[in-house]
Amino acid sequence: MKILVTGGAGYIGSHTVVELQNAGYDVVVVDNLSNSSEKSLDRVAQITGKKVSFYKCDILDREKLDEILAKEKVDACIHFAGLKAVGESVAKPWEYYENNIAGTLTLVDVMRKHGVKNIIFSSSSTVYGDPAFVPITEECPKGVCTNPYGWTKSMLEQILSDIQKADNEWNVILLRYFNPIGAHKSGLIGENPNGIPNNLMPYITQVAVGKRDHLTVFGNDYDTPDGTGVRDYIHVVDLAKGHVKALKKIEENAGLKIYNLGTGTGYSVLDIVKNFEAATGVKIPYEIGPRRAGDIAINYASPDLARKELGWEAENGIKEMCADSWNWQKNNPNGYDD
Ligand code: NAD
Ligand code: UFG
Repeated sequence: MKILVTGGAGYIGSHTVVELQNAGYDVVVVDNLSNSSEKSLDRVAQITGKKVSFYKCDILDREKLDEILAKEKVDACIHFAGLKAVGESVAKPWEYYENNIAGTLTLVDVMRKHGVKNIIFSSSSTVYGDPAFVPITEECPKGVCTNPYGWTKSMLEQILSDIQKADNEWNVILLRYFNPIGAHKSGLIGENPNGIPNNLMPYITQVAVGKRDHLTVFGNDYDTPDGTGVRDYIHVVDLAKGHVKALKKIEENAGLKIYNLGTGTGYSVLDIVKNFEAATGVKIPYEIGPRRAGDIAINYASPDLARKELGWEAENGIKEMCADSWNWQKNNPNGYDD
């Protein structure tokens, strides 16, 4: 089977390409490199020993996508391409709606023109808003998103669901990721944020490597055991493997399915700092700062449905997540620019 991976040069995409190639799939990557480097795919080839077919292409470019699909005859698409910075989406909503929504509409239109009606979509636990209950099951009602990025995920879930309902030749799997961290064990690929990291783990690893002097903890007055925000961190390689399992489900004519990909365990910001220090021996100085606008107190998954229906569950614990994040950062202090 040949799989089109949009956004395959990015963080989760590159790890998923490794798992797809290891599982014997042929992979075609389309990425405009707006938030990634083609070097990640050279590293993927180093890990798997297989070259990746790569097209530098924007998913808004209908003609180029059409040419690629005419040539490559893919069977399914794993769709990672999208802009993902929460704060930037508040400042640039038009750009986020254009890129993520118009981009996906273009992609799906070209796919159906070529008779490709299988898609796995990168959604997010952000669609639950401030969740009605934890652990969050897929039955939990979708909530009010606090930023345009989150709305693009929520709206795209609706759009893809409606397309599947209107034409049951489509198989649509919506994967709601919790908080991916970690990196491939080889230390060759990992998260490579531009500028100041927005997310906790890349910020911590940049403090550890000496690029930033301390972490600011965004609030310690939440209603959580130690007052800091609780999240469900998941190793990116486990997340990547979840996509391979989802492809198997697509091959069984899944119809429309929604799965949480998380571990089921919540860790606070201070838990992460302590676990990082224990796993790596590197001290992380921190200060308590004000809450970050739009943050919620607590969010963690029930991974039961993915376990039951996909036969998937996360294998790596917090120790591996911290150690692998650090292994990537210390070997590549400047990401793919090293
Ligand atoms: P990433 O930025 O590393 O990867 C996204 C890739 O898409 C990048 O390589 C970027 O260059 C590419 N891209 C963006 N717009 C494009 C376009 N118009 N045409 C072609 N390529 C385009 O991000 P990631 O962390 O790997 O996330 C992958 C997907 O998972 C995204 O859709 C993201 O919203 C979603 N997601 C991520 C997280 C997270 O915390 N990392 C959580 C939930 C969901
Ligand atoms: N945090 C800090 N200091 C920092 C960065 C983060 O204290 O410098 C805290 C946050 O307040 C939060 C926790 O660390 O309590 C995790 O924050 P992240 O920014 O790493 O992750 P979020 O849970 O806010 O959001 C992430 C992605 C979203 C995605 C969501 C759910 O950024 O795109 O996970 O998948 F939607």
